[in-house]
Amino acid sequence: MGFNVPSHQPEGKVLNSNFSVDANRLISDLETLGQIGRTPGGGLRRSSFSSADTEARNWYIGRCNEAGLTVKVDGLRNLIVSSPNIADHIAGRPAVWSGSHIDTVPNGGRFDGALGAIAALECLRRIDEERIPLARPVCSVVFTDEEGCYANLLGSSALVTDFSLAELEAMTGRDGDRFVDTFVAAGGRLREATQTKIDPSMLHAMVELHIEQGPVLERLGHQIGVVTGIVGLGGGSITFEGRPDHAGTMPMTSRKDALIAAAALIVEFPVLAARAGPDAVITSGMIRVEPGSANVVPEFTCFSVDFRHPDLNQMLALEAEITSMAYFIGKQYGVGVRVDLGKTIPPVVLDHGIQKIITTAAGARGLSSSSLPSGAGHDSQNMAMLVPTGMIFVPSISGRSHCPEEDTSCSDVKDGANVLLDTLVRLAT
Ligand code: HGY
Ligand code: MN
Ligand code: MN
Repeated sequence: MGFNVPSHQPEGKVLNSNFSVDANRLISDLETLGQIGRTPGGGLRRSSFSSADTEARNWYIGRCNEAGLTVKVDGLRNLIVSSPNIADHIAGRPAVWSGSHIDTVPNGGRFDGALGAIAALECLRRIDEERIPLARPVCSVVFTDEEGCYANLLGSSALVTDFSLAELEAMTGRDGDRFVDTFVAAGGRLREATQTKIDPSMLHAMVELHIEQGPVLERLGHQIGVVTGIVGLGGGSITFEGRPDHAGTMPMTSRKDALIAAAALIVEFPVLAARAGPDAVITSGMIRVEPGSANVVPEFTCFSVDFRHPDLNQMLALEAEITSMAYFIGKQYGVGVRVDLGKTIPPVVLDHGIQKIITTAAGARGLSSSSLPSGAGHDSQNMAMLVPTGMIFVPSISGRSHCPEEDTSCSDVKDGANVLLDTLVRLAT
């Protein structure tokens, strides 16, 4: 699988640099979306299936409708947008997809996901407005719950493999809600949520534009990143169950304190990561303590674990190390242990042919580019299991992301979207 781009092919010549995105419309759409779910501190909170996420999705669907585009919603609420203005014999061919997500982390930024979702819509609008003759359809997509409120890359994972009802029932959100309850309350149908995987033969390619979320492009002074691969993504939760006691009367040596056990494990994470090499990272970003009173020895802690590595074997080794350390510490502190590490999403290498097309498109627009791997997870790593996939990065100011300070200049937004446009047209013609 993959695109061969023969070296004699004048890739740059098929790209017409007069044909560009409407930068004002693109930036205005990003600004409008950036107001939905705004927190008092200037960040965004659009966890999937929250009211802000629903508002953002409805706004996005409205923008598609205003442009005369057709929106399909799949069983897990991924949005797939296409133009009704293509001939039937082309509409039935394998499509070129582009898109990203519009959910955010708590107190996240305006660009993570939103840029790729809006830029894909903008490209589709421009292709449709100019009636660019295509050999295959271009679709813009919005994936559900990329930020893993319920499961890492939920929507795109469901395109690769159906979730079973039992798997959906086991998912809980950041607020402790059960996925199935929230999904049904939002009008979702569980049967349809278990029938989402797609036939890869309906796809020709996937390209996602995203902010880099790190400092590499800015330090190099380059405008475009050509993503070579994406790290593997693993994680879930670990629970310690101790014994509740009076905080004033139970001697320190007689306690079964679930939070002390959790702390002992979490401080081991840097040690385990270092052992797996400089590319390994392990993070615990959420913790719940029960019964949750300053004067009660913690009975129960449940905390998140997120681990990443670009090599699959190292991912599996990390998972085994974290699990065995959890049981070792549980024994040491006399508390019960439960390890729930979900499906590991494997690292992927992105399509070499699409990487070349992106590099050529950047060069044809006079933009400097460099190749780099992604340390963040993206829906593209699921899509890469189905179809040749590429990713374009644009610089993040000071490398900041997953925070209100996340920012990218207007010219980088415009350049990234134009490189996306050229890449999509190249792949679809
Ligand atoms: O967690 C990630 O890497 C992505 O931002 N969802
Ligand atoms: Mn993110
Ligand atoms: Mn993202």
